Amino acid sequence: MSRKILVTSALPYANGAIHLGHLVEYIQTDVWVRFQKMQPKDQVAECWYVCADDTHGTPIMLRAEKDGITPEALIKRVHDEHARDFAGFHVAFDNFHSTHSPETQEYCNVIYARLKDNGLIEKRTIEQYYDPIKQLFLPDRFIKGECPKCGAQDQYGDNCESCGAAYTPNELKNPYSAISGVKPELRNSDHYFFKLSDARCQGFLRRWTRETGRLQPEAANKMQEWLGADGENRLTDWDISRDAPYFGFEIFDAPGKYFYVWLDAPIGYMGSFKNLCDRKSIDFTEYFRPGATTELYHFIGKDILYFHALFWPAELEHAGLRTPSGVFAHGFLTVDGTKMSKTRGTFITAESYLKTGLDPEWLRYYYAAKLNSTMEDIDLNLEDFVARVNSDLIGKYVNIASRCAGFIGKRFGGKLAATDAEWQKPLREASARIAEAYEQREFGRALREVMALADTANIFVNDKKPWELAKREGQEAELHAACSQAIEAFRLLTLYLKPVLPKVAEAVEAFLGIAPLAWNDALAALPAGHAIKPYSHLMTRIDPKLIDTLVEANKESLAPTAENQAPAKESEKKGEAAAAPVPAEANGPIGIDDFMKVDLRVARIVDAGHVEGAEKLVRLTLDIGESKPRQVFAGIKSAYDPAQLVGRLTVMVANLAPRKMRFGVSEGMILAASDPAGATPGIFLLAPDAGALPGMRVK
Ligand code: 2FM
Ligand code: ZN
Repeated sequence: MSRKILVTSALPYANGAIHLGHLVEYIQTDVWVRFQKMQPKDQVAECWYVCADDTHGTPIMLRAEKDGITPEALIKRVHDEHARDFAGFHVAFDNFHSTHSPETQEYCNVIYARLKDNGLIEKRTIEQYYDPIKQLFLPDRFIKGECPKCGAQDQYGDNCESCGAAYTPNELKNPYSAISGVKPELRNSDHYFFKLSDARCQGFLRRWTRETGRLQPEAANKMQEWLGADGENRLTDWDISRDAPYFGFEIFDAPGKYFYVWLDAPIGYMGSFKNLCDRKSIDFTEYFRPGATTELYHFIGKDILYFHALFWPAELEHAGLRTPSGVFAHGFLTVDGTKMSKTRGTFITAESYLKTGLDPEWLRYYYAAKLNSTMEDIDLNLEDFVARVNSDLIGKYVNIASRCAGFIGKRFGGKLAATDAEWQKPLREASARIAEAYEQREFGRALREVMALADTANIFVNDKKPWELAKREGQEAELHAACSQAIEAFRLLTLYLKPVLPKVAEAVEAFLGIAPLAWNDALAALPAGHAIKPYSHLMTRIDPKLIDTLVEANKESLAPTAENQAPAKESEKKGEAAAAPVPAEANGPIGIDDFMKVDLRVARIVDAGHVEGAEKLVRLTLDIGESKPRQVFAGIKSAYDPAQLVGRLTVMVANLAPRKMRFGVSEGMILAASDPAGATPGIFLLAPDAGALPGMRVK
């Protein structure tokens, strides 16, 4: 029976930019889906790839407040940015939707109602951490403390980044509010729980996680650890509601209570697919009814395995829906062997990569070459990236066409001679092995095989030396045959690389004058007499200078601007807005002499403008009564429109050593207030009372 496949990638949070860490997964999934879409219809009838933005939760609500916009406006803006970045890397979703959608809400209600009918939802009054300073119940990720399982410090309230365990915030040891830093109080609140501890869930998960194909072996082992030995009951009930104020879906029979973002996020897969089905007349029930013979695969990062391999299948099963055929977890990305870092410039956004002028297919190739079916981390070594792409794609692959195509055009009217030859046999026979490797998500293996075949083709070209044949009289037929055979080999290599290099493949299809390459096109060679178009450059080498520019562009300036007060580095991956607290007295008391060293002056903003290429900076021209105004870069773009700043007074540090930034020299710093934890939104520029004049000393 021909396969029908639905594939998802994890939903990115709608409050942060897509970066190279995210792209590991989207590229991995996209390559797999593109491979499936190249299969003959009698093998893969259809393969759909859906995703959405993960739009709900407290961090997104707070971020919108901080930006002074509604959550709806924030998620719209971020959706546009995400869609642009995905398209930029040729990640071709069939649908990129939003969890803030009627479809997702509908399935949240359906699943919740069915679980409730099945006796698997329970309302309980719980004691929950409350921040008495901020006056709100603290979401899991706004509480930090020691992991109850492994003792790692500074772990979030929902799961441990060190050992991967999931737990409730109340289980954390020595908790503190990540917003204000205070020890939170326990207060009562009604919450709704999904009863994972119910014997039906435990029994089901024990079976499901062991079934062939559902989980990678290392993931299945991890799940067995979490489930405990047979007969043990280790799973605790899962709190699926949150108190207002919350940006999410209100629970229809519990006013003031909202579905927790992690309840609606995977349901967003269904919502996105339903939205696609409605537009394309696809039968949604064929994919989600119990016992469906269609296939459902989730590509995720290993950090969210718990949600996808336990909570999600248990929800689906007990809501009378199908469960995933497989959950494929990948590892994390490191850059040059360590965690991505903003100070080192290795926390690289998708946007900056593209803006720097790097080719997205270089990264697709490099990632694919490093990916396999395990949960191992992958490293983007920037030097190796340049070397590998230049050597494999330019030195081996493109080189075949660039050395042979010209002769076909110039000497043979663009027409090929017979293209099939004995030496190409290994290239054609490799098709099944390469397909198998792609299918198994062993992309590294697939590409090693392709490059070995490229070596074979290059050996052929090197032996034949078309450039020498071309100079000799009477060697036309040999020249024609050699170049035609090399072009055929190039076509086969392109076919095998197409899931990874879709745009190059498109250009090659145009150059060869052929229909879009499908997997079975490996079987038949181009016929003699086939006309090709003039060859034009397919891909350039990576200039290592571009990498320097990229890293420079992503280096977070250490200049003392409000930009650097932005919180939450580590937590950005999680869409988190909170950071460890910075107590006001962090540096201890200082004497008046120390304070007087700071030369604070009233400044008039005589000009203000955007800084090209800077996400957060505004360029200010400040008059402090000197002969020449000062230039200062301030990280206030999220809060102020430069046009509205012109003419107003503020306060600046006038004796700060000038600092060379990427955009120019910053000759001081303006003063602005902001919440160091970032939970209370806004940046607030200081201003003197009326009557103050530029240059006046502030003390
Ligand atoms: O960890 C994350 O980035 C989540 N936004 C992933 C959600 S995936 C799915 F469950 F929706
Ligand atoms: Zn731990």
